[in-house]
Amino acid sequence: MRLDRVCLRSLQACSVRKLFYLVLIWCTAFYVVFRYSTTTEYAPTNTMTGRLLLQKIITRGGPLISGTTDGQPNVTTEFNLLEAEPLVDNSPALSDSDFAKILQNEVPNLPIRYWQTLNNKFPAKNKTCAKFPTLWDIGFNNVYWQTLKTSNGTFYLYGAYYDNRTLVAMKPVVRMLGMINRLEPKVKTICQLWFEGLKAPVFAKVFEYKYVWYKKWGNHKNGLFQPYLVSCQIPVGFRHLVPESVSLVEQPCDMAVTNLRVINNVPENGKKGEFAVCVKGLDFLNEDLSVRLVEWFETLRHLGAEKIFLYELEVHPNITKVLNYYKELGLVDVTPITLPGYQPNIKGLIHMYLKNKLTNKRQNELIPYNDCLYKNMYRYKYIAVLDIDEVIMPKGNNMLWKDLMDNVLAKALKVKKVERASYNVRNVYFFDTPQSSDVSHVHFKDIPQYMHMFQHVYRAKNYTKPGAYIKCFHNPERVLTLHNHFPLACLGGACSSFPIDTEDAQLQHYRADCVKTLKKSCDDYKNSTIFDDTIWRHKDPVISRVTENLINLGFFYRASGSGSRTVRPPPSAVRRK
Ligand SMILES: *[C@@H]1O[C@H](CO)[C@@H](O)[C@H](O)[C@H]1NC(C)=O
Ligand SMILES: *[C@@H]1O[C@H](CO)[C@@H](O)[C@H](O)[C@H]1NC(C)=O
Ligand SMILES: *[C@@H]1O[C@H](CO)[C@@H](O)[C@H](O)[C@H]1NC(C)=O
Ligand SMILES: *[C@@H]1O[C@H](CO)[C@@H](O)[C@H](O)[C@H]1NC(C)=O
Ligand SMILES: *[C@@H]1O[C@H](CO)[C@@H](O)[C@H](O)[C@H]1NC(C)=O
Ligand SMILES: *[C@@H]1O[C@H](CO)[C@@H](O)[C@H](O)[C@H]1NC(C)=O
Ligand SMILES: *[C@@H]1O[C@H](CO)[C@@H](O)[C@H](O)[C@H]1NC(C)=O
Repeated sequence: MRLDRVCLRSLQACSVRKLFYLVLIWCTAFYVVFRYSTTTEYAPTNTMTGRLLLQKIITRGGPLISGTTDGQPNVTTEFNLLEAEPLVDNSPALSDSDFAKILQNEVPNLPIRYWQTLNNKFPAKNKTCAKFPTLWDIGFNNVYWQTLKTSNGTFYLYGAYYDNRTLVAMKPVVRMLGMINRLEPKVKTICQLWFEGLKAPVFAKVFEYKYVWYKKWGNHKNGLFQPYLVSCQIPVGFRHLVPESVSLVEQPCDMAVTNLRVINNVPENGKKGEFAVCVKGLDFLNEDLSVRLVEWFETLRHLGAEKIFLYELEVHPNITKVLNYYKELGLVDVTPITLPGYQPNIKGLIHMYLKNKLTNKRQNELIPYNDCLYKNMYRYKYIAVLDIDEVIMPKGNNMLWKDLMDNVLAKALKVKKVERASYNVRNVYFFDTPQSSDVSHVHFKDIPQYMHMFQHVYRAKNYTKPGAYIKCFHNPERVLTLHNHFPLACLGGACSSFPIDTEDAQLQHYRADCVKTLKKSCDDYKNSTIFDDTIWRHKDPVISRVTENLINLGFFYRASGSGSRTVRPPPSAVRRK
């Protein structure tokens, strides 16, 4: 402190020395604070002068659209650290019911709203039998799963749904979707159905374990996770009510460790929408498909998709940005999902695991497909299960999906007077780089480079075989379980699928290569390509929407201060010069 007194006398002369000593003292002070922090209290000394605290910062000029050079001028501002308020989140704490709403959205299978209305007065058969499992009694697994260990097999439950569809023979039933580490489970289980206003649960036996897979596809082994749909019929006397939640147990009186909210998404106005799209768990952590995704969303929206339901395992931050943006716009719905049990949920490792364990990957995918079906069966007339490199493209007189399906339904009913479970579209590849040298480097100058699908208008001449790699418009009134390409099981008899003529529509599949199973014939497909500009019929509306949204999202935006270390001072401390 002696030094300071010296310096006060001739500020200018010893400014350099002063700076040096300030640094020294600063370091010493830090040392002392950290070394003796348990015994001494830190008191700022007068070495921290106001001058040091008065920081000058430069805010870079404003946003620049790439290509243009005129921005706002740089702004020099000063602010005082003694008065500065750090930018913390000062929003008021959420009330329990507001928090419950948020949580309900994030973990849709949790009966959190019902649990709150119970207000600690939980139903039970009696004091020692079938008590309601509170949120603290649930055997959680990897966030979104609930575990039931039975005497023969472990169940990982993901969702529960109320199924009162006309063609369900035993309606109304409650179905639970999950994975079981057994084939053809032998263990007898029971549903405890929890109804609002009832003091005790209603018991119902599980009448079916429906395997959501075909044996011949592999992994048909006890011990591995197998996708199942588990169903209980609601007993007589309670069929006019929809249960709030369901617990799966082995003995009726068991204290359950599962409690799944029963999803029953009936549209408020009682009317179904037309088209929804379901997309399996996105696994694109290091692959920035954000711009491709914008093009895909806008193309589907234009063709007639009212909502696109995606699941998310792990994605690139730019994809997150796009998803959040489209969530806000109401076009997409994103459900985070994990892999159940011992499977990896470590970012990056998920991708390696799924790549190396293709059959496990396929089995895991059946959960989002079927969750999407059961969430939306009352809300839409048609549900398409698509990957983000696929578009069902109407052809001929059919411009949009609605025209297409009106037309296709009429054709189908002419053949046989019943609605089919699904209407399938033939697959055809639009390769990133076809082998034929004359088309491999074609760019269309009147179409922006970032429109991948609109730039790729050469396709394989031949479609893949009928029934192979097809995609469908599913009729949710008739589908019991879904697979990526077709329904696995249907209501009211065998699954019927109507093949849509390639004159009416085709599945445009944008890939670098054929799927692995077609490796041998891929050269043939790549060799023989034809020009197919059907997508250009939608050029004007889609290109302008994609462009507008990419600008809004900041894809053509040099964010202010990017690359520099500019900090934005809090407004309270800013003094403009
Ligand atoms: C703002 O500052 C940066 C970095 O110092 C400089 O490159 C740029 O030319 C300045 N812009 C204006 C409009 O003064
Ligand atoms: C509770 O209910 C169960 C099943 O109905 C019954 O077996 C048991 O005796 C009851 N216990 C008591 C204490 O009432
Ligand atoms: C357990 O389940 C498996 C398959 O689901 C079955 O093969 C086996 O016999 C069962 N074990 C017992 C003890 O019931
Ligand atoms: C179940 O569906 C029938 C028509 O099939 C309807 O009358 C009934 O109200 C539905 N039940 C519930 C609880 O929604
Ligand atoms: C077609 O593919 C074969 C390989 O399957 C290749 O040998 C041949 O040169 C290709 N033809 C053309 C015209 O590219
Ligand atoms: C395309 O299909 C036709 C008719 O089925 C077949 O004769 C031809 O070999 C196929 N061409 C290629 C390149 O696969
Ligand atoms: C996309 O990611 C890159 C790399 O992290 C980043 O530089 C770029 O700003 C991101 N784009 C947008 C629109 O956020």
